[in-house]
Amino acid sequence: MGISSANKISRRSALANGAMIAAGLAVGPLAARAQNLAPQANKARKITGRDSLKSHAAHHGLLAGTAVNVRALGAQPEYARVLAEQYDIVVAENAMKWGPLRPTPDTFFFTDADALMAFAAEHKMKVRGHNLCWHSQLPTWFASTVTKENAHRFLVDHITTVAGRYRGRIEAWDVVNEAVQVSDGRPDGLRNGPWMKLLGPEYIDLAFRTARQADSHALLTYNDYGVENSSEDATKKRAAVLALLRGMKARNTPLDALGIQSHIHTGGSFGAGIRDFMASARDLGLKIFLTEMDVNDSNLTYNDIARTDHAVAETYRDYLTTTLAEPAVTAVLTWGFTDRYTWLAGGFRGQSKHPQRPLPFDANYQPTEAFFAIRDAFDHRKTPRTAV
Ligand code: XIL
Repeated sequence: MGISSANKISRRSALANGAMIAAGLAVGPLAARAQNLAPQANKARKITGRDSLKSHAAHHGLLAGTAVNVRALGAQPEYARVLAEQYDIVVAENAMKWGPLRPTPDTFFFTDADALMAFAAEHKMKVRGHNLCWHSQLPTWFASTVTKENAHRFLVDHITTVAGRYRGRIEAWDVVNEAVQVSDGRPDGLRNGPWMKLLGPEYIDLAFRTARQADSHALLTYNDYGVENSSEDATKKRAAVLALLRGMKARNTPLDALGIQSHIHTGGSFGAGIRDFMASARDLGLKIFLTEMDVNDSNLTYNDIARTDHAVAETYRDYLTTTLAEPAVTAVLTWGFTDRYTWLAGGFRGQSKHPQRPLPFDANYQPTEAFFAIRDAFDHRKTPRTAV
């Protein structure tokens, strides 16, 4: 659909909405959906102050957040402005991972992570820590330096130093990230990654116990992906993650929350699987965060921005409507907020060379239809009694 026909729809639906309001009828989600088809119309709608994501989220017991590219934050005033305007919780997209934090085995590079902490403090935002233990983005020296003999010391030292430095200032730490990988073939479903090979499955409890010692305030979180949709793989992964979480609780491992990354795709189907999974986590006493949401549109076959934005927005709406019905969810973070800096940017759809549009703001910081779908999904949430 071209811009002009999009405009026609917007004028038509604006008229329809006006007539409905005049007649005293609520403007329902269908009308809002039609209106959202028009990128031009989005520009005119208020999105700051009481109309911001964080304001709408707060009315429904939620924090609204995003991952932050610390270099962009330092370089682009527009980036910083939208970030401060829309969000009340941030997480470093990369700056707190082992790789960026550990240039050598004996040194730490805290400059970027500290810059994010300072920005968050200045703007009274909360911070999630990501992450203390992961198989990926390890420093280049890791493989040749860390051995079965010294791995325990490296893990404990790292967590003690990093979580200790930010003690009391981190809302929640992703202590262990992505420890489950069913296709690795272990009976317990755990990933056969570097930490597993070095320390065995005990590395998980060790990481959580060390994190608790280093920062008793942070909510200690197990974070993973691939548990969201209704596929067979996701069903298996949910079972393996729940088994891990139950085992940790049975062993009295300090565990407060489950992070569901929520990297989803257009057209995905989300239903009883994720709902029951979240209810089981709640039964274990865990809070739930949606930690890294974005919508990958690489499976779309057309090359049309308005249609793409609509498909992405409807996927946000569908997923968030399903997941936000769960009262244990207390925060929704997207993995970045502007398409200018999405980690999916390298992905091109089919032959079209059309960059992805997975986030609530486009590359020029204009709200996309996804922004309004996210905000609507917050609004349609029944506020849980245990609201934050
Ligand atoms: C991604 C970052 O966005 C990229 O910039 C980086 O190159 C690779 O990692 N799951 C996670 C995140 O837990 O840390 C990943 O972030 C995305 C998938």
